[in-house]
Amino acid sequence: MTQQAIFITGGAGGIGLATAKLFRSHGWRVGIGDVDPAALARAASQVDVETFEHDVRDYAAWENVLDQFCGAEGALDVLVNNAGVLTFGFLDEQDPATFANVVDINVKGVLFGSHAGVKRLARSDNGCLVNIGSSASLQAPPVLALYAATKFAVRGLSEALDLAYLRHGVRVACIEPFLVDTPMLDADDPNGRNYRVAVQSQEVLSADDVAAAVWQAAHGDDFHYPVGDLPRRLVSELQDHFEAGRSQARANFAARPQPDASPIKS
Ligand SMILES: NC(=O)c1ccc[n+]([C@@H]2O[C@H](COP(=O)([O-])OP(=O)(O)OC[C@H]3O[C@@H](n4cnc5c(N)ncnc54)[C@H](O)[C@@H]3O)[C@@H](O)[C@H]2O)c1
Repeated sequence: MTQQAIFITGGAGGIGLATAKLFRSHGWRVGIGDVDPAALARAASQVDVETFEHDVRDYAAWENVLDQFCGAEGALDVLVNNAGVLTFGFLDEQDPATFANVVDINVKGVLFGSHAGVKRLARSDNGCLVNIGSSASLQAPPVLALYAATKFAVRGLSEALDLAYLRHGVRVACIEPFLVDTPMLDADDPNGRNYRVAVQSQEVLSADDVAAAVWQAAHGDDFHYPVGDLPRRLVSELQDHFEAGRSQARANFAARPQPDASPIKS
């Protein structure tokens, strides 16, 4: 049997690294990209992965890195669009000059990955695109307006691709974790208030909890993978309506001739 392969962006730390470790422990071939070369070297000293200096904001770099990892005509079984950044604080108190970078990493990076990845995923018999959203993809906290805007975008993009990538036999899943104990929680707001301190009374998950959800997504057929009490409750409130609509939409979309379907599966 061919070894299955997963590529994870922002995989040198936090949730990405925990996911890399989990899949590697099951015998998968694992590639991780990250902008932080020192963190990539640390990751490679902990787990047997192939590392790539890769900035998700750069489309040409996406093609290059996936060609290196998969081979020019090769297949990819799972692509995890994981790289992301968070800003904490009220939008009107933040420096607008910082907004574009957050949108570029959290939204443009996922758009680029979803575009560059699909032809490789289509060459797998069971290709799956996993986008890391957030609890903030479902409900937007007032101190995370910018972040939540980008994470709602990730959920919207993923919902559309769940249908659109039926043309290529590629499944799409969105992971929606609540707070996770990673360096992301160390953000300060413009007044010096620390996010980790601000949320200390709330549920905090481990990166391994989220890695387990990515594993389920790679092997399941759901779209929403909430992790933690709040997102689980929010998803359960919309689940019946969402799943009924989704199965109907998938059936309708799959049944319709797709004049624009490209032959990338062949
Ligand atoms: N930590 C949480 O509470 C939490 C909750 C819900 C969702 N998430 C999401 O999970 C994902 C991973 O977050 P994390 O908590 O592991 O954060 P993290 O800060 O520990 O890791 C993010 C990684 O992304 C890398 N990165 C940053 N910019 C990049 C770029 N332009 N190109 C490639 N890599 C880049 C960083 O170097 C880092 O290794 C993010 O999408 C985040 O929004 C996190």
